[in-house]
Amino acid sequence: MNEYVKIKGMGYATAQRRVNNTDFTWLDTSDEWITSRTGINSRYVTETENTSDLALRAAVSAIEDAGIDKRDIDTIIVATFTPDMLTPSVASILQAKLGLNDCPIMAFDLNSACTGFVMAFQTVSAFIQTGRTKTALIVGAETLSKVMDWHDRGTCVLFGDGAGAFICTNQGTQHVASHFANSRGDLEDVLSAEGLKLQDISDAQPLTSGTLKMQGQAVFRFAVDAISDGIRQVIEKSGLTLDQIDYIIPHQANLRIIAHVASKMKIPQEKFITNLERFGNTSAASIPIAMAEAKANGILKEGQRIIMVGFGAGLTWAGSTVEL
Ligand code: ACO
Repeated sequence: MNEYVKIKGMGYATAQRRVNNTDFTWLDTSDEWITSRTGINSRYVTETENTSDLALRAAVSAIEDAGIDKRDIDTIIVATFTPDMLTPSVASILQAKLGLNDCPIMAFDLNSACTGFVMAFQTVSAFIQTGRTKTALIVGAETLSKVMDWHDRGTCVLFGDGAGAFICTNQGTQHVASHFANSRGDLEDVLSAEGLKLQDISDAQPLTSGTLKMQGQAVFRFAVDAISDGIRQVIEKSGLTLDQIDYIIPHQANLRIIAHVASKMKIPQEKFITNLERFGNTSAASIPIAMAEAKANGILKEGQRIIMVGFGAGLTWAGSTVEL
């Protein structure tokens, strides 16, 4: 049996509190520094909602967009590295919140940091191809504010909370799906986080552990190579040329990273869909949020060919081509 994945619906949810660059009054930083170095103007930070709550809102929106009966969902995968708790998985909590307790569902989380959603898409594509899955809900959801050191200006200004979701079915007719993924586990020190704790960012105390630690410049260099490699690999595997790709949706980390890739690979910048200026880096949620928003705005349409390409802690990187 060889079935193809169809992205039937997309949805996203942002956290309640919008934090503008000028709101970081307790940091030695400026709107000018953040905007010019990253392209980010604002991000959304959760106040009361946990990862599963954001995932739920994104999932409900994707189910609505797909026009499916939610009881047809047989697989839920949540890509996250900021789950509500270590166990049960956000996917199982989400199943309950969706009122699907009596439905037979394979539910699990997947942690590949910012690359997680592309990995979830590749996993579900493989399940669909073998007939194991017919209708899947895949979600990228993060409450990164829990693992931020809100006194570390080099990291906390970059990230935001949010969730994005796809309904994937076996009704795809496309033949251009190609996937690539890689990992460099030895580069763990470059980007890592431990522990999970909700924080009130207005009254945050300096944390000594459990926060995201990052060597910014090393990640920057890795990211440019990883995105370029991801694009090259999936293009080669798909047998397509870049001209046949309508849009590239990269992990939304830094506009300068995307600009570097565009210039290095001689790809027009308009081919890259970005919304990081409003959402910051939402890790595993960034690609589905960017795609769901672009679809809602009429930019992404049926029949278009796209590349999703992510990179993140691990270090990991991955890309997929798909026809909408
Ligand atoms: N405001 C003002 N100054 C700052 C800030 C800030 N928010 N942050 C750092 N600086 C200072 C530094 O302390 C440094 O000061 P110094 O020269 O006195 O030492 C100066 O600015 C320059 O710092 P750099 O680190 O060289 O700045 P750079 O231009 O590299 O930008 C940044 C830093 C934005 C972090 C960049 O390196 C970057 O985007 N890297 C990639 C990060 C990324 O994508 N992370 C996500 C990975 S995905 C995942 O899995 C989570």
